[in-house]
Amino acid sequence: MANITFSGPALPKDITVYAVADTGTLLALAKKHEVPIPFQCQDGECGSCLIKVTHLGTNKPKAITLTEKEKLTLSVNGKLTKEILQKVENDDLPPPYRLACQYLVQDEDILVEFTGEPGVEIDLRR
Ligand code: FES
Repeated sequence: MANITFSGPALPKDITVYAVADTGTLLALAKKHEVPIPFQCQDGECGSCLIKVTHLGTNKPKAITLTEKEKLTLSVNGKLTKEILQKVENDDLPPPYRLACQYLVQDEDILVEFTGEPGVEIDLRR
């Protein structure tokens, strides 16, 4: 079980929910608990579900793997620089910014912050 705390200006106060690892994305969990993280494509392409994830506790973070779509969209949005990506891959640590629709919940406590700012539209078919 994991404690997932959602925080953002769209919420009157922080919301902490329990989640079972490997059962879905953070966006699905947020929707289930009516946490208003913005979203559009739900497929890692639009960037509207941008979140900042802070790993809580002393164990090594588990949700490290980024999908290729997540890498590309975060890069286009300026949230994943080459330097950060290199550090992610070399040190096996997750970057601070993620996409809620691509982030698979793991057995770890995290703080999820979101602003509700719209993302950047990109076309992956090019
Ligand atoms: S909803 Fe479009 S990237 Fe997550």
